[in-house]
Amino acid sequence: MAGTILIVDDEKDMLTLLKRIITEGTDHEVRTFSSPLAALEWLKNNPVELVFTDLKMPGIDGIQFLKEVKRAKPRTCIIILTAYATIETAVEAIKMGAYEYISKPFKRERILLTINKVMKWEEMVRENLALRRALAEKGDYLPLVGATPIMKDLFDRIRQVAPTTATVLITGATGTGKELVARAIHQNSLRKEKRFIAINCATLPDQIMESELFGHVKGAFTGAWRDKKGLVEEADGGTLFLDEIGDMGQGLQSKLLRLLQEGEYRPVGATVSKYADVRIIAATNHDLGEDIRKKRFREDLYYRLNVVRFELPPLAARKEDIPLLAHHFLRKYARIYQKDVLDISPLAVQILVSHDFPGNIRELENCIERSVIFCRNMTLKAEDLLLDNKQETPFPDLSEGISDLSFKKAREVMLQRFHRQYLHILLRESDGNITRAADIAGIKRQYLHRLMKQSGLSGEDFRHK
Ligand SMILES: Nc1ncnc2c1ncn2[C@@H]1O[C@H](COP(=O)(O)OP(=O)(O)OP(=O)(O)O)[C@@H](O)[C@H]1O
Ligand SMILES: [Mg+2]
Repeated sequence: MAGTILIVDDEKDMLTLLKRIITEGTDHEVRTFSSPLAALEWLKNNPVELVFTDLKMPGIDGIQFLKEVKRAKPRTCIIILTAYATIETAVEAIKMGAYEYISKPFKRERILLTINKVMKWEEMVRENLALRRALAEKGDYLPLVGATPIMKDLFDRIRQVAPTTATVLITGATGTGKELVARAIHQNSLRKEKRFIAINCATLPDQIMESELFGHVKGAFTGAWRDKKGLVEEADGGTLFLDEIGDMGQGLQSKLLRLLQEGEYRPVGATVSKYADVRIIAATNHDLGEDIRKKRFREDLYYRLNVVRFELPPLAARKEDIPLLAHHFLRKYARIYQKDVLDISPLAVQILVSHDFPGNIRELENCIERSVIFCRNMTLKAEDLLLDNKQETPFPDLSEGISDLSFKKAREVMLQRFHRQYLHILLRESDGNITRAADIAGIKRQYLHRLMKQSGLSGEDFRHK
């Protein structure tokens, strides 16, 4: 899809050259500006997908410009063009949320490749936003993020099933979103004004569970001083979500079957039945087929529950959704913790995509939450990612992106990365204790301090982990 690309540089020749490369090599529209302020003005009133900007310009400098763009349009991708600016400034720009920096002089392919990468990513984000907007307009907004075919299909089916009263069985591994899907079904149903009540069948012993679900009458058992309504009655007209149904005891299974078949149940100790109109949604991460074979789960109940089945895929089966989910959680936790973290660096996204999340979306969400809490920049970078504590902190490849740098700059960049990675490992090893770290490294404390300062690291951070 064609988008708009802004080029900001005070050198006219550079504007012409870049514009030619882009218009010849892509079908994107290009606007050029020699004044960053004029560019900013234009950007505020027009959609822009990508901005190429020089670092040193009269008026406001590139870093200031970048901040302003991020403030006005946080999602805009910014590529820094750097000639005589030092690499540190470019690195600083990345920390502030720039997507990438390209040093001048550059190769045509480098520019085209970068545009291609950014636009592909943009398209995915846009697609998801459009989908969510369309749903919101139809009044059936789903709080679920996902753009892969498997998820789009799931969303369609949720929308179809939600307004009916059909019983739904949701299966899937831990953290795949079973409860969220159940809530989405309720919110998009005609019952949404009534209650959604969730109960976990694995946490309570059967007798207590029975009185929780169906209520009891006074004197039904020791401690039953008065009549108590059950959740089925509380959820009358609404939805009852039975989580981990695979762990429900046999006795209760037959009572639930009766509720499903006749809409009828009996409070503990009562002599007459009650009726309730509840929609049941059940979830499990068990293989119920196996449970049925082993006679742990009633087959007839299974068929009653399994009127509509949603099988939620593990995150590993839809890794393409990881970038979207990561950004979604980034916005969520940046808001909750009031942090100015606006973006995730492409490398960090890449690391997330290649990481295994056995705890699925919940694990990814926890990872982003943790990382946002500790992140000290506007962009969450590879080294800010706090993946599962048991796993190694991921680092960028030392030599990534150095192919078009001069020897001097390449050495500078690699050395900087080396410092950061070495210090990370060292400080983690020594729990952030500087004296111990200096000891292990065989260098003076003062020198270690200086290196840490240059890499933007503090001992504090490592004492928290
Ligand atoms: N498609 C999604 N988009 C956004 N957030 C999601 C999505 N799916 C799940 N989540 C989030 O991931 C977390 C885990 O989801 P949820 O509790 O629904 O999983 P679950 O399958 O019920 O897990 P468990 O089996 O461990 O109970 C929640 O915080 C939920 O909001
Ligand atoms: Mg759950």
